[in-house]
Amino acid sequence: MGKWEEILTIEKYVLPLLGVAVLAIAGMATPASVAAAELVKYKIVDSNSIPDSLTGKPGDPVKGRQTAIHRKKGNCLACHTLPVPEQPFHGEVGPALNDVAGRLSEGEIRLRIVNPKYANPDTIMPAFYKTDGLHMVQKKWTGKPMLTAEEVEDIVAYLMTLK
Ligand code: HEC
Repeated sequence: MGKWEEILTIEKYVLPLLGVAVLAIAGMATPASVAAAELVKYKIVDSNSIPDSLTGKPGDPVKGRQTAIHRKKGNCLACHTLPVPEQPFHGEVGPALNDVAGRLSEGEIRLRIVNPKYANPDTIMPAFYKTDGLHMVQKKWTGKPMLTAEEVEDIVAYLMTLK
């Protein structure tokens, strides 16, 4: 008898006592399958740019600012300076992004967030929209990109305001 049949059989007999617990286990099983959800397909042009929005829509620059500086999401400040005076410590490993939209196009910025290794294979900047070939991924993150397609687009929209 498979594990799930066994649980379901037990459920039949011990309900309602165990019912809630079984539902809780079944509920926990769902995120794993959802996590394996596929990434949006995108096209890279000249190994340097992803011209089209991952979501087909423009992002929200206000949300993008929040996601970029959120220590558990973009955490861009770990390596970059941004015009965000309320946060004290800005990293200097990467170039300052205060005027990034003056240097790079929207598509070039999008590629550098999705997977900067296309532009520079040796970069230490993490790929924020990628699930394979990543190193030392914690179990809860396996199969999930660091940012969703919406979050990437929000950050692109925010960086496009920095000229
Ligand atoms: C671990 C450090 C690190 C983190 C975290 C990081 N970056 Fe970078 N980033 C770099 C480095 C280093 C470069 C320099 C270019 C290279 O290495 O290819 C760079 C380059 C860039 C560039 C190109 C800038 C230019 O002028 O060419 C953009 C845009 C960028 N990063 C955006 C981001 C955003 C947005 C985040 C947060 C979501 C982020 N980075 C997080 C290290 C990092």
